[in-house]
Amino acid sequence: MRSVIPDYLTEALGDVESDSSGVQAGYIPELAAADPERLGAVFATVDGKVYGAGDVDTEFTIQSISKPFAYALALADRGFDPVLAKVGVEPSGEAFNQISLESDTGRPLNPMINAGAITTHALAGSEDLDPAARVERVVTGLSAFAGRRLEIDEAVCVSEMEHAHRNLAIAHMLRSHGVLTEDPEAVVDGYTRQCAVLVTVRDLAMMAATLANRGVNPLSGEQVVREPVVRQVLSVMLTCGMYDAAGDWATQVGIPAKSGVAGGLIGALPGQIGIATFSPRLDQHGNSVRGVSLFERISSDMGMHVMQVPPPARAVVRSNHVVGSGPNAVRVLQLQGGIGFSGAEKVVREAVDTAPAEVGVALDLTMVYSIDDVARRMLLEVVRRLSLDGHEVFLVDPESVVPDPDPGDGGRVTVVGNVDQAVIPPHRTARR
Ligand code: DON
Repeated sequence: MRSVIPDYLTEALGDVESDSSGVQAGYIPELAAADPERLGAVFATVDGKVYGAGDVDTEFTIQSISKPFAYALALADRGFDPVLAKVGVEPSGEAFNQISLESDTGRPLNPMINAGAITTHALAGSEDLDPAARVERVVTGLSAFAGRRLEIDEAVCVSEMEHAHRNLAIAHMLRSHGVLTEDPEAVVDGYTRQCAVLVTVRDLAMMAATLANRGVNPLSGEQVVREPVVRQVLSVMLTCGMYDAAGDWATQVGIPAKSGVAGGLIGALPGQIGIATFSPRLDQHGNSVRGVSLFERISSDMGMHVMQVPPPARAVVRSNHVVGSGPNAVRVLQLQGGIGFSGAEKVVREAVDTAPAEVGVALDLTMVYSIDDVARRMLLEVVRRLSLDGHEVFLVDPESVVPDPDPGDGGRVTVVGNVDQAVIPPHRTARR
């Protein structure tokens, strides 16, 4: 059978193909000359499957889509506080190249507008790097997100530098406020090189999938940045990634995203998928016209909005029953599914409401496929409290979904492979 996904993507491209509104970025002559008819879309799943349609292997420059990744590198290399001291996280509601800084501190409002991105470029790598080494740090980092070595398009870089007066003005302002401490012209040159990194829409989808996959590239397996960095980057993408269209985007599409003036657009749906589109004509915000339409359609067709409330999960407590009889009776709470806070709360409630009379209590995790950290801690606290109440507590956990369970102060638990092994020792057949 042929997969349905490339066919869906082909159909979606067909729907937007005839829209010729918008224009290529005119302020970079090399981009103005790009073929406006190019059109491609790729899905990359968090386990590394790539589906594409249209121009998936055409190279173009990454432009502003480099910004969230350079921000991730700065956070990873310098730490959160030093970066936040220099670049805020507030949506600006302004154009990407607006000359605007926070009035009291001179900080750029966020890392997605040019002022923030120029500052962020200077924060990637350690403080003592020279400009060429900093660019190399950024290109190596972007390459790790993509899972292959990326290169700079020198022609686009030169073309943009010839007209970079606005970014130079922003950089000089940043320098006058002491936000930048380096030579402003060298930083703009480095930032422009960062924007001129060549990618395909396939690379972009993989970079987005790395964000969706907690910072681990789905194909290379490399942990490019840690999870807290990814959370920060995705939050900023959702609130600021589409500039002065960010509110419309957050409500109508609801996928953390970033656009670039060469026509690329990425979205990262946490835990699920990286999406990228390519179409060079831009709207008045500098976002790809057909890319925005594709994302609107994909989000609505696939229910991919991050604020979409998931359907109610099947009950986490599958059954609450007793096995055995008399003093050997064991109360079994059989759990199922993936357990997070709300599932663990149901288990807590069940244990409290049942107030088991039996000495033995077993939490049966045989049908549980995942348990997050907060749920693990809550279940172990249930175990601890039950054992302090005098119960003999068993964890039926044949696949170690809770590895090395430690219920903490005064708690005791016996891990077994199935419910039949939940046998109360003879000296414990009465509650203490
Ligand atoms: O700073 C600039 O002007 C460009 N090199 C990048 C701008 C960009 O891609 C804006 N996003 N849509």
